[in-house]
Amino acid sequence: MLYILLKMKTTQAFCHSEMQIFPGPRYRTHMKQPLWIIILVSFIIVFLICAYMYPPQTSDACYIFSSRGCKVITDWLPPAPARELTDEEVASHVFIREILNSPIVSSKTPKLAFMFLTPGSLPFEKLWDKFFNGHEGKFTVYVHASKERPTHVSSHFLDRDIHSDQVVWGKITMVDAERRLLANALMDPDNHHFVLLSDSCVPLYGFDYIYKYLMHSNISFVDCFKDPGPHGNGRYSEHMLPEVEEKHFRKGAQWFTMKRQHAIIVLADNLYYSKFRNYCQPGLEGRNCIADEHYLPTFFNMIDPTGIANWSVTHVDWSERKWHPKSYRAEAITSELLQNITSIDVSVHVTSDKKKEVQRWPCLWNGLHRPCYLFARKFNPQALDKLLYLFSNYTTI
Ligand SMILES: *[C@@H]1O[C@H](CO)[C@@H](O)[C@H](O)[C@H]1NC(C)=O
Ligand SMILES: *[C@@H]1O[C@H](CO)[C@@H](O)[C@H](O)[C@H]1NC(C)=O
Ligand SMILES: *[C@@H]1O[C@H](CO)[C@@H](O)[C@H](O)[C@H]1NC(C)=O
Ligand SMILES: *[C@@H]1O[C@H](CO)[C@@H](O)[C@H](O)[C@H]1NC(C)=O
Repeated sequence: MLYILLKMKTTQAFCHSEMQIFPGPRYRTHMKQPLWIIILVSFIIVFLICAYMYPPQTSDACYIFSSRGCKVITDWLPPAPARELTDEEVASHVFIREILNSPIVSSKTPKLAFMFLTPGSLPFEKLWDKFFNGHEGKFTVYVHASKERPTHVSSHFLDRDIHSDQVVWGKITMVDAERRLLANALMDPDNHHFVLLSDSCVPLYGFDYIYKYLMHSNISFVDCFKDPGPHGNGRYSEHMLPEVEEKHFRKGAQWFTMKRQHAIIVLADNLYYSKFRNYCQPGLEGRNCIADEHYLPTFFNMIDPTGIANWSVTHVDWSERKWHPKSYRAEAITSELLQNITSIDVSVHVTSDKKKEVQRWPCLWNGLHRPCYLFARKFNPQALDKLLYLFSNYTTI
């Protein structure tokens, strides 16, 4: 009964106000309500104009509105005046979306692909041999030696050299070598996650820990951050337009791990790859663009930003702020050093501009705080014996 009464009241009120919206000449005396509506409408228009001119762009703004609020507000906006995509871009977007949405064929023995990018023999092959022992069937090894044919001391590395080509630091040949490794590793349908390592990398954990960490992660560990300084966006070239805009340009260390879908996409990409091949080279147009530090971070930031972790699981120490990172000598290697590295659970990036802004993100693994690093570089070849001696101690977690 009460409900019906209420309903009648609201209906009446509604009819009443509707009449006020279209006032005939006879209602001139009732100007108060239309004025109220005009003010409200003006407010909405002003709000929409403001929202259009100052859309919440940073994730900080999204947090202020709460992530849901942010979405609602952006949905309200008229779509930004979109550039017409080229045929190649449309094809590429379709292709990428299909691959991202397709589940990988599950296999009875999913494997990790360890892809070594090295000039020649691997100084830490004996350590890796210890690392792999007893886990046969759960990994495959690929070696791309760009300068000289390596001699192998471990059975896990025998006949694992792939066809290789010259690699010039900073040039696209580095990316080509990464793609060659991915192509070879993708041929094995059991490879589900792909790890890129250098000759100076060592494992920080035993095999089982690393296997679980990577296999049960739903993202790829690709390093990616925005550096407005000379070693970041200062390397961007407008020749990359229209496909690659400066606002999408990112930087990151090349040592990635990647899930299978991402590996396929990297191999399939020609459009964005060719932009970096042509316009990201050391010395081009006075810029010192390093293809392997920008192509994959920028590419993933554009095509699947939430599918990457934004940090690399390979630790490196840049604290000396030199052109090359710190290289650990045998004397420096102690249980304490290794413990220090494995206890880090926040990733740090520093911009190269005058502000030297420090960006810190907690390392989240499937939403949980976990140590950031599974591997570390750079280790001096003389450090091998010390690492072999310590290995079983530091990997018994
Ligand atoms: C990586 O950064 C992008 C924005 O640059 C963000 O959208 C994404 O959520 C980040 N990834 C993770 C796992 O937090
Ligand atoms: C390990 O970390 C502690 C605390 O930050 C520091 O005092 C110590 O010097 C570090 N040791 C090594 C070998 O890096
Ligand atoms: C990965 O898993 C986390 C936690 O389960 C979830 O929040 C996130 O959306 C997932 N990311 C992707 C790319 O599936
Ligand atoms: C083994 O590791 C423990 C800490 O986990 C450390 O106290 C000990 O010194 C290490 N042993 C050697 C031989 O370094």
